[in-house]
Amino acid sequence: MADVILKGVTKRFPGGVVAVDNVSLHVPDRELLVLVGPSGCGKTTVLRIVAGLERHSEGDVYVGDRLVNEVAPKDRDIAMVFQNYALYPHMTVYDNMAFGLKLRKFSKSDIDARVKEAADILEIGALLSRKPKELSGGQRQRVALGRAIVRHPTVFLFDEPLSNLDARLRVQMRAEIVKLHARLGVTMMYVTHDQTEAMTMGQRIAVMHKGVVRQLDRPLEVYRRPADRFVAGFIGTPSMNLVEGTVGQSDGGFVFRSESTTIDLPSALDPVVRLCPHGEVTIGARPEDVAPAGVPAAGSLVLGDAVVELVEMLGNEAVVHAKIGRATVVYKAAGDEVPGRGDRVKLSVPLSRVHLFDSKSEARLEHSSDRS
Ligand SMILES: Nc1ncnc2c1ncn2[C@@H]1O[C@H](COP(=O)(O)OP(=O)(O)OP(=O)(O)O)[C@@H](O)[C@H]1O
Ligand SMILES: [Mg+2]
Repeated sequence: MADVILKGVTKRFPGGVVAVDNVSLHVPDRELLVLVGPSGCGKTTVLRIVAGLERHSEGDVYVGDRLVNEVAPKDRDIAMVFQNYALYPHMTVYDNMAFGLKLRKFSKSDIDARVKEAADILEIGALLSRKPKELSGGQRQRVALGRAIVRHPTVFLFDEPLSNLDARLRVQMRAEIVKLHARLGVTMMYVTHDQTEAMTMGQRIAVMHKGVVRQLDRPLEVYRRPADRFVAGFIGTPSMNLVEGTVGQSDGGFVFRSESTTIDLPSALDPVVRLCPHGEVTIGARPEDVAPAGVPAAGSLVLGDAVVELVEMLGNEAVVHAKIGRATVVYKAAGDEVPGRGDRVKLSVPLSRVHLFDSKSEARLEHSSDRS
């Protein structure tokens, strides 16, 4: 069993940087958990703490049912694959994979069996006698994975292992890591700043910001119900449209006013709006949920009249940038409904797809139609 558990883990670096701020998370045995967040949010530090390469300032770390705060990295049964995986240039692929096992005094026959097994899994059997400089980037990455696999660890830690690869190879390798995870039946923690990688690979994802885990959930749940404004803007591409404004009373209903637009809020949103007494609210709508509507349908929020400013044609669909006053709203249009520059469109969002956040606390304001 190799659950990984962090309880109230904080890391303060000399100079006062709090890289990890009271993080608690539980990665169950055999889960692939992705840690995602912008540069500097503390992802690598969390991994290094789990690996034992960094000593945390507060809290406890468990691997399996063992408290490992004081356990040396080599005794944690963990393998880590880094972005800069630094293969030994003068050694063959075989020797690169065998090296760690030799240091640990494995027998020649054990080493041979493990290297061949890993090479088989990674389909690099034909490359074993080559040197790293004779390999492509993707092949080198596989060797780095192989070096971790031969150790038969119960936990794998990956720190942006694909970021040196080109886009096509990254897509291929991320699928291979997911398959590898299923095949090896191990616990994996995978760090990336790429939200697409997180969405596609993680069984669950932990979204980090400034040392704090903002949300930990299944990818679709995070996508559909981001816990706060930061997560809302970070997960999803193109990013969610977010408009800040103030909600006030008008003619018995609520009205949202921003710098550039005034939106009548349907009464169905009243209970949500009341959750935020100070009235400073951010409205969020994903580009795929915004649509031009001739006559606004009941049960939708009308964002306003917009002028199309830019159209990015992707083939099957287009990403349209339209202006409402000074605010830009981005939405997706199907191939046969793509407007032209300068066209006028009325934009609306189905109410069930409207996200509301308290602008001060950034927290999500929940409404009942979220549950549908
Ligand atoms: N050894 C160190 N000494 C002081 N500060 C550090 C040290 N290592 C990291 N930090 C700081 O801790 C914070 C978190 O760093 P970390 O490397 O964990 O971020 P990250 O999420 O992995 O970022 P990236 O996506 O750029 O790799 C940053 O502000 C960083 O500058
Ligand atoms: Mg990092």
